[in-house]
Amino acid sequence: MYSLLLLAVVVVAGQSVSQKNALEEVLSAVIDSQLTLSHQTSVLTELLTATRERNFCPQGPTCPYPYTLVLDECFYLSPHLVTWEAARRHCQGMMGDLATPKYLYAIKSFLLNKSKVEGDIHLYVFVGFKDNGRNGTWKWLDGRTVDAADWYPGEPNNLDGDEYCGHFRSHFDPMLNDHSCSVFSRFLCQYHPAN
Ligand SMILES: *[C@@H]1O[C@H](CO)[C@@H](O)[C@H](O)[C@H]1NC(C)=O
Ligand SMILES: *[C@@H]1O[C@H](CO)[C@@H](O)[C@H](O)[C@H]1NC(C)=O
Repeated sequence: MYSLLLLAVVVVAGQSVSQKNALEEVLSAVIDSQLTLSHQTSVLTELLTATRERNFCPQGPTCPYPYTLVLDECFYLSPHLVTWEAARRHCQGMMGDLATPKYLYAIKSFLLNKSKVEGDIHLYVFVGFKDNGRNGTWKWLDGRTVDAADWYPGEPNNLDGDEYCGHFRSHFDPMLNDHSCSVFSRFLCQYHPAN
């Protein structure tokens, strides 16, 4: 661009008045186009920055593989059948813990969807609540007390005096059930990036 300008100036110096005017017009057009270009460059730079920011800082939350986003939390339904403690270790080994979902009905939808995909089987899964003192005090692993309204009617029933671990049953409403900690069951993990 500068060499073009220089050329225009040199040419202007040796020409007649009318040619000089014409060349001055060309010169001013060149300068205009330079201003336009610099404006376009700054607009394009802004656009590029905005696009990069959008890609690097997504608007909503995302979940790392193999977790699935349900509202604003990440869950993983394991196909394995293990005891409650083994399930907890498994979840803790994948940057999480047994699930302590905030929105139980969102999880119900998630489980019913998985159930459909797997052939409409009923899904029974260990989750993160427990009667740790075996005295009827049920707590979520995050410290919340289990809401009495979230149990399936008649639960917890401490069947055979051996049910101290938390369980969801996908087709029961509400889903909460007490279950033996030592039986083998599928389980639901929840991602906790700080763990
Ligand atoms: C189940 O979830 C999948 C994505 O994992 C989705 O594509 C599908 O539409 C859902 N099906 C139902 C019945 O909600
Ligand atoms: C039940 O056991 C838990 C855990 O050991 C304890 O914190 C709680 O105080 C006990 N509650 C009752 C009512 O005994």
